[in-house]
Amino acid sequence: MTINKNKKIFLKSYGCQMNVYDSNRIKNLFEPRGYSETDNIKDADLVVLNTCHIREKAVEKVYSDIGRIKKIKNQKDDFKLVIAGCVAQAEGEEIKKRAPIVDFIVGPQSYHKLPSMLEEEKKFINDDFLQNEKFKNLLFKSTNAVSEFISIQEGCDKFCHFCVVPYTRGSEFSRSIIDIKEEIKIYIKSGIKEVILLGQNVNAYHGLANSGKQVDLSYLINSISEFEEIKRIRYMTSHPNDMTDSLLEVHANNKKLMPFLHLPVQSGSNKILKKMNRKHSVEKYYEVISKLKSKRPDIALSSDFIVGFPGETDNDFDKTMELIKNIKFVIAYSFIYSPRPGTPAAKLRDIDLSIKKARLSALQSLLKEQQIIYNKSFIGKKMDILFDRTGRHKDQFIGRSIYNQSVFMKSKKNLIGKNLNVKIINSTDYALEASI
Ligand code: SAH
Ligand code: SF4
Ligand code: F3S
Repeated sequence: MTINKNKKIFLKSYGCQMNVYDSNRIKNLFEPRGYSETDNIKDADLVVLNTCHIREKAVEKVYSDIGRIKKIKNQKDDFKLVIAGCVAQAEGEEIKKRAPIVDFIVGPQSYHKLPSMLEEEKKFINDDFLQNEKFKNLLFKSTNAVSEFISIQEGCDKFCHFCVVPYTRGSEFSRSIIDIKEEIKIYIKSGIKEVILLGQNVNAYHGLANSGKQVDLSYLINSISEFEEIKRIRYMTSHPNDMTDSLLEVHANNKKLMPFLHLPVQSGSNKILKKMNRKHSVEKYYEVISKLKSKRPDIALSSDFIVGFPGETDNDFDKTMELIKNIKFVIAYSFIYSPRPGTPAAKLRDIDLSIKKARLSALQSLLKEQQIIYNKSFIGKKMDILFDRTGRHKDQFIGRSIYNQSVFMKSKKNLIGKNLNVKIINSTDYALEASI
């Protein structure tokens, strides 16, 4: 292994939290080789763009960033540009053609090879699916945060007709219980209080326990909650069909599992869900929510929506709005449908952009209205807040409520890492304000 003194690495993550996690791992892989992180790209010897392929806009952003980096690269002698992540996986050859200044291309399941690609192999593209080997070769170092994201599961076997994830991240893979717990122990040493378990299909988790038996997410959550230092556990993102009874039961019985669930539904119309190949109906979604609420009545629900999927009529869209009104999501993410090359839905006739935009705006107004009402309902009440960072203003700290709301509070004393029961005194559109 070559050790390069005083080298600098610049990393940029696009897309989901799994990419943020992967970028941290890439950084950790280069640290023993003498690299430290810089947030100034002009100082960097190695630039890694960890990209997202989920919508066309995300991909365009990468190519426009490469264009900007070209100017910097032309002024430096020794400067390597790496494209990692889901765009690298999906269109490695195309990047090579469109952007000759790129030095290496590496996918999400083979980035552990990056140091050796740079040093000896000189392999230009690595898009192998090496999930098992990858996790065996990663390095983990705490970011000194109060809360850490931990990838426990990767990939997806669901193949929704709009989605690139099964192609970019590969088929479902679950890490073993021992692997995950060993990683958590590293973060406990630096004082974390919360873990957020990540997976593209996290509730399909089926890793091996020490006994060699395959276990599910409920087992993993219960096992992690045995760490006294860990006070809060969350997980995302889930599929409605994998909300098993055992997982619902943990929501009732495990006090460390937070009463918040991100459960994407995408549409409120059965006709569209079928065309999307979501493999669940609106009725199934209501059934899961109602079972969950019987276990944990105060659970806060979040979701993802796609508007303007091919064939979506006004009537289908009204059904989505109706579902939002009935479930009363406390937050949600909504997107205009973006046809993705290679996915089955890309062959269908795309609907007019102006219609998509109007629907997105109506849907977002409704969600925002509901979020405001929800947040207002906490004014005057006391809540447990875990503070994890400083705010923009002097003496301001920001934390999360058990329902995942952002809460800010003034304090002369440092609150980071503190879990406090405080009174909510105000609410803005997206956050709450507290006072001791
Ligand atoms: N695994 C998760 C999330 C995958 S991607 C799930 O099963 O829901 C995150 C979100 O991006 C999706 O929930 C979906 O709402 C959105 N998305 C995925 N593909 C898209 C596309 N082609 N156009 C617009 N939005 C998309
Ligand atoms: Fe994509 Fe999620 Fe569907 Fe998998 S379940 S194909 S990740 S939207
Ligand atoms: Fe994007 Fe890949 Fe995540 S496509 S959303 S970075 S899994």
